[in-house]
Amino acid sequence: MRHLAVLAALVALAAAGPRERRQTTEYERCQDGTKVCVPYYLCQDGKVITDGSGVIDIRTASGCSNYLDVCCADPHTTDPVTPDPGHVSRCGVRNYNGIDVRIQGFQGNETQVAEFPWMSAVLKKEVVSGEEINLYLCGGSLIHPSIVLTAAHCVNKHLSSDLRVRLGEWDTQNEYEPYKHQDRDVSAVVIHPRFNGSNLHNDYALLYLQTPAELSRNVDVICLDNNPTILAPHHNCLVTGWGKDRFGKKGVFQNVLKKIDLPYVPHGECQTALRTTRLGGFFKLDKSFLCAGGEAGKDSCSGDGGSPLVCLDATKTQYVQVGIVAWGIGCGTSNIPGVYADVLYGYDWIVAEADKLLASPVVDYWGYD
Ligand SMILES: *[C@@H]1O[C@H](CO)[C@@H](O)[C@H](O)[C@H]1NC(C)=O
Ligand SMILES: *[C@@H]1O[C@H](CO)[C@@H](O)[C@H](O)[C@H]1NC(C)=O
Repeated sequence: MRHLAVLAALVALAAAGPRERRQTTEYERCQDGTKVCVPYYLCQDGKVITDGSGVIDIRTASGCSNYLDVCCADPHTTDPVTPDPGHVSRCGVRNYNGIDVRIQGFQGNETQVAEFPWMSAVLKKEVVSGEEINLYLCGGSLIHPSIVLTAAHCVNKHLSSDLRVRLGEWDTQNEYEPYKHQDRDVSAVVIHPRFNGSNLHNDYALLYLQTPAELSRNVDVICLDNNPTILAPHHNCLVTGWGKDRFGKKGVFQNVLKKIDLPYVPHGECQTALRTTRLGGFFKLDKSFLCAGGEAGKDSCSGDGGSPLVCLDATKTQYVQVGIVAWGIGCGTSNIPGVYADVLYGYDWIVAEADKLLASPVVDYWGYD
């Protein structure tokens, strides 16, 4: 399988045409009047030159109107970064410092470029006055080059032919990152047979992509596992999401993928907490749910549905997906955890259905130490 991934990366490189390059005359002037604003990866032989060697601080930005531009004296001797042809796929590897550059000065828990390469956006194709647009439905996660895992409640009312998945996305407002996103149409939607749309039990769905993703530095898979030791009570896990309201909307300065760390809350404790809400004292938390969070102001919220909750494995080098954002009572309410589809509970179904879609066992993709 590893060989396939390398092959896919090589094919991707061969297929990539020459990149578009803006003419110098189109570049905006920097505040000092002599330099010009260029994308950070265009400056100096493809290496980033900023005042902090590989670090962009958006608070002290150059005076360029785009926060990913830097001031550069000689942009036309340079080339954009080309995707790494030697990318070797490994599940659940987080790019802590982004790729090529670390951006400092974000205020609200934004992620770095390609920090979570498995993060996917589930979109709905829609034609508005003759033009096809993509509406954001939900988050998802790449678990195999051909399969995205998401919440059933996100996709159960849609035809596969209306769905599209975006991989390797980071800032939904800019087509700016040096590593481009990949859009894939969906050829099949597989929903858990015991999914219940009224109470969201078994909120699991698989999206089978028409063409496999090209694994690269900004697009790779998340690990899955059925070993419960990955879930240490109250240890922090992470959820990532864009939130619905701002995806792809015009006029918003930036909408960068966000991350929140949340403690895993054991089942009984979560049920007790939820019984104090309007769900009432007889509420029974189904076995297909898992809880995390419950700290004021920190929660996944509306629009994050389908997004992955991931925890570090024992060696702290790879992330394993344990949950899919399902529902919550309010957002970020103190002591009330958010509720996720439990990926360990759904593991056997996910593996069996993925294997039916694929020619080889899906677990081959989730090797980790
Ligand atoms: C960022 O995350 C930290 C810890 O996860 C949290 O305490 C803080 O409130 C968050 N800030 C914003 C602006 O969301
Ligand atoms: C879904 O759950 C509701 C409430 O528990 C139940 O009445 C209904 O029969 C369930 N539907 C399916 C299809 O299982």
